[in-house]
Formats: sequence, C-alpha cells, structure tokens
Amino acid sequence: MRTSKRSLAMQASPIRKLVPYANAAKARGTKVYHLNIGQPDIETPKVFMEAVRAADIDVLAYADSNGWEPLRESIAAYYQRMGLPYVTEDVIITNGGSEALQWALLIACDPGEEVLVPEPFYTNYRGFAAPYLVEISPITTYPENGFALPEKAVIESRITKKTRGILLSNPGNPAGVVYTAEEVRMVADIARENDLYIIADEVYREFCYDGKEATSFGTMTDVLDRIIIIDSVSKRFSACGARIGSLTSKNKEVMAAALKLGQARLCVPTLEMIGSKALYDLDPDYFAPIRARYEERRNILVDALQKMDGVLCETPGGAFYAVAKLPVDNAEKFAIWLLTDFELDGKTVMLAPVENFYQTPGMGVNEARVAYVLNSDDLKEAMRVLKAALEAYPGRTA
Ligand SMILES: Cc1ncc(COP(=O)(O)O)c(C=O)c1O
Repeated sequence: MRTSKRSLAMQASPIRKLVPYANAAKARGTKVYHLNIGQPDIETPKVFMEAVRAADIDVLAYADSNGWEPLRESIAAYYQRMGLPYVTEDVIITNGGSEALQWALLIACDPGEEVLVPEPFYTNYRGFAAPYLVEISPITTYPENGFALPEKAVIESRITKKTRGILLSNPGNPAGVVYTAEEVRMVADIARENDLYIIADEVYREFCYDGKEATSFGTMTDVLDRIIIIDSVSKRFSACGARIGSLTSKNKEVMAAALKLGQARLCVPTLEMIGSKALYDLDPDYFAPIRARYEERRNILVDALQKMDGVLCETPGGAFYAVAKLPVDNAEKFAIWLLTDFELDGKTVMLAPVENFYQTPGMGVNEARVAYVLNSDDLKEAMRVLKAALEAYPGRTA
C-alpha cells in the first residue's frame, strides 16, 4: 500500500526529530540539557488543578463545539483587560494554538493558495500548511538586523494572485523578535490595501523584555475583519499539556467556518477547559515575576553566547528563544554530534537546528535555536558545555 504524496511531503519536526539521539545519550548515562524545545519549567499555576479537582461532574459529556462558554467569556475578559474589543462570540476554543493555526490556514486558503510568512518562522507552520496544500511564501529576515521586517515595498513585491494572507508570530519563535508598533501598522496596511487576512499568532504576548510590549494586531481597529488571532495557554501559563488554545476574530464568516470545523471534531476536553478558565481569571500581576525570570535567563544565555568565539546572537526582545549563528559547517550535524560524540563531565546539550525554520533552501544552515526554559544554574552549565563543544567540534569553520 502506498501513502499519499501529501503525507510523504510533510517534514519531521526539526525540534523533535533528534529525540532518538538524545534518548541514546541518556541511556549511556549522559545528562542532556534540553535547549531544543519550548517546554517551560515554570510551575503551572495551582488554580488549574484546583479547578479540575473541584469540578463535580456526573457525566463527562461532549462540550459545545465552540468551547465551554465560561472559558470563552474569560478569554474575552482577558482581551478586554488589554483594551482589545473582543467579546465571547468572537472566541472559539481549539485543541491548542496548533489547531487554531490549522483552521486559520484552511479558512483563509484553498489548495494551491499561499500565505506570506516572515522567515525564520515557527517550523510547525510547515506541518500545518502542507496537509491543506497551502503554500508558504517566505519573507526573509536576517540576524544581522535583529530579524526586523523588510520595507513595505519588499513585502508587497511577494504578493501574487494566490496570496490570501500574512501569517506571523509576535513575539516570534524562533528568533524572539518583537515587532515594533510601526511594523504591526505596516502589516495591517498591507493587508487592507491588498485584501489579505492577517493570522496573528500571539501566544507569547506577555513575554517581552527590556520594558517593551508587543503590539497586538487586535489594536488595529480599521482591519479587525481581516484579523484572526491565535492564542494558547501552553506558554502563557506554562500549561503545554492542557492543549487548550483559541481562535478569535470579528469576522463572522471566519467564525462560522471555524464553528463547522469545530463541529466536525466535536469538542475540546472539558476538564482542560475548566482548568484553563481558572488560568485566564488570574490577576494580570501573575506575569511580572515570570517575565523577570525569563529576562534573567535570556541575559545569561545571550551574554554567554555573545562571548563565544565565532558565534553571532542578537539579543532577542521576547518569547523564550534565540537564534545563534554558529561557527560550524552544519548546525544539524553539530546538534547530532553533540548527542552522539560529545560530553563534558557527563553532560551535553540538545539544540534545534534552524534550517527548517526557513522556507528558502540554503538559509539557516549554520544556525540553531536555543530555548531558555531551564533554570539559571542549568543554563550557565549548558552554556559551559556548549562552549567546550564548539571548541572541540571537528566541523568548526572559524
Ligand atoms: C509561535 C507558536 N505558535 C503556536 C504554538 C503551538 O502551541 P500549542 O499548540 O501548544 O498551543 C507554538 C508552540 O511552540 C509556538 O511557538
């Protein structure tokens, strides 16, 4: 039996495909510092499990396809606290931000149509687009200027008859870029003038450093009908395993299409929605100490990387990732070598090669994404190990 061309065309996640090498290293007794995956070590707020335990349910029935209404209300209230105009009817609950992203692409594009995406981008966008035969048309951004968006004319030159939208994450994964208010405005103008959707992935919204804030696309009131906001409890509340996200839009046709998709998969798990409501009801002050912890870690990581010979790493403004250009022939080969051939005092590190976070062939070959989701001591030790590894690597280039 054959499998379909589209299933064969899907990539294995570059974040996870090196896991067998890491498992083998661990089986040999090597400690592996996971800098490859955005799994925060921050404790999930206790209110989540408390709400789940307090749930008194006789029959664990199907929930509504658009989600448990009290959770939708709490998400709308969360947006309103930020000054965004969303109400309960504008919010539909999804299985993680991942499902919301798949739906947004499916709703915006027919097979063969495309979305513009600044690259490097969250690599799973490829996995979301490919099954629906949606093309990703990359807008290349560069480490040398902090992965800023190019000028309006450059972006517009990429628009074709097949272009249906712009998809971007802000703050961004993998480079931690936080777009300026002017960049957000520019994207809104491009969308309005060229009849495009904006799929705004804002799952890292609260994680901005140096006193900066991310401008939500929800503040672009003249284009609200074009905007689809993607959100998730995974990173915001360190609740990745809950698999609760949401798609939010003022566009009634988009919401009607999303509801049909929701009905086709029936519903999202009830207990996870009950726990997630308690998360969205948390006082906004919850974020300040978490942000401070991530900022401290970012500083440790970036200081260490910037001091390593031949490494280029711009200081990221948000999320919990940085992209580092490494003095190696190939970052994937280096990442595998770290797991198969290297250890320092019984320890090694796992990185995510960035090549597949780019759509343009040949880009990012010697770049790796480093997630700063470990505590400060582990991060310092991981950087000591990485420095020694770069010095010892046979494929070193500079
Ligand atoms: C930018 C971005 N969007 C969406 C997601 C998906 O998150 P989830 O499906 O866990 O909500 C991630 C996860 O890493 C991400 O980094």
